Amino acid sequence: MIKLIVCKDYEEVSDKAAQLVLDVVKSKPDCTLGLATGSSPIGLYQRMIRDHEENGTSYQNVKSYNLDEYVGLDVHHPESYYSFMYRNLFDHIDIREENVHLPSSQGDDLQKNCDDYNAALAQAEVDVQVLGIGSNGHIGFNEPHTPFDSVTHIVNLKESTIRDNARFFDDDISKVPTQAITMGISNVMAARKIVLVATSAHKADAICKTICGPITEEVPASVLQKHPDVTIIVDEAAAALLPKEEVKVEVLNTEVFDDVVREGTVLVDFFATWCGPCKMLGPVLEQLAPEYGGKVRFYKVDCDNDPALAQRFGVTSIPNLVILKDGQLFSRSIGFASKDQLKAFLDSAL
Ligand code: GLP
Repeated sequence: MIKLIVCKDYEEVSDKAAQLVLDVVKSKPDCTLGLATGSSPIGLYQRMIRDHEENGTSYQNVKSYNLDEYVGLDVHHPESYYSFMYRNLFDHIDIREENVHLPSSQGDDLQKNCDDYNAALAQAEVDVQVLGIGSNGHIGFNEPHTPFDSVTHIVNLKESTIRDNARFFDDDISKVPTQAITMGISNVMAARKIVLVATSAHKADAICKTICGPITEEVPASVLQKHPDVTIIVDEAAAALLPKEEVKVEVLNTEVFDDVVREGTVLVDFFATWCGPCKMLGPVLEQLAPEYGGKVRFYKVDCDNDPALAQRFGVTSIPNLVILKDGQLFSRSIGFASKDQLKAFLDSAL
C-alpha cells in the first residue's frame, strides 16, 4: 500500500524522509539500509549526518546496500555512485567500510559482479529502502519495460535518463555513461519498507503514473502499488498532476457561523435547495476549493433554513456569494458565476 505525503518544499520532504529512516536506525541499530543516489536523497543524508553529529546515532552495526552503479567510470571518478555515497554520507558517519555494499562495475566479468551482488542481497534483508525516481518512472536504473521479477543486471540507459543525468557531467551527454548495473525490481520489492522521495515538476508525470496509473512494466515504479509498506514523499510541484481530492463544501448554520468565520478569508455561498442556478454553482465551488487550499475556506448557507443569516448579509436573491475577511464583509457577487469569474472574485480578496 502506498502512503503519500505532500510537503511544501524539498526541505520538508527531506525532514519527513529522515524521520522515517532514522526511526528504523534508532529502533534497530544493526539494521540494513537500501540506499539511493541522485539529488533527491541528499537532504535526507544531510539530516542523517546532522543527527549522527548532534545525537550520536551510531552506524557501527548498520549495513548498507546501494541500488546501482555506472559502468565505465572508475570507482574514484567524482560521479561514480561509490564516490557520491562517500561524499554525501559515508565519510560523515561511523559506518564501517566492510558493511558498505555497492554493485561493482569494475573488471571484465560484469555478469559475475551481478551474480555476486544478488547472492549478497539474498542474505541481506533490507529494513528500509530509499528510492528516488527517474522522470520516466525508473527506480534504481530499472528502465521502462524491465521485468518486475528482475534481479541485479546490466542495463543500457534510456536516452531520457542520459539526458537527465547529463547535469552531473558538465551538461555534456557524451560524458554520461550509457550502461549501469542495477538491483532488479524484485530486489527492491524485497525490502521491508520503502521510502521514495521526489521533488519538482519534472517528476510530476512519473509520480502520477506511479500512484494512480495501472501497474505496468512501462512505468517501473508502479510496481510499488503491490508493496505492503511504501511511503512516497513529494513536494507540491511533484504532486501537481495527482487528482485533487474531492472537497465537500460544508453547510454552516447560525449557531457556529461567527466562530467559524472569525479568522482568515472565507467564501460563503448562500443557496436554496429549490434554486436551479445554485445547483450549478455547487460543483464549481467544490472544484475550486482545493485550488485555494489554505488561503480561502469555502462554506455554504442554506437560505431557507437560515433566513436570519441571509438577512444579515443583505441576501435578497440567490445564489449569492459573499467573501468575509476576519469576520467582516469584504465583497459580494450576486448570481451564477463561471469558474473564471469566481477565480477573479476570490483573487480580489487575496
Ligand atoms: C538516477 C539514479 C536513480 C535516481 C534518479 C533520479 O537515474 N539511478 O536511483 O532515483 O537518478 O535522480 P534525481 O534524484 O537526481 O532526480
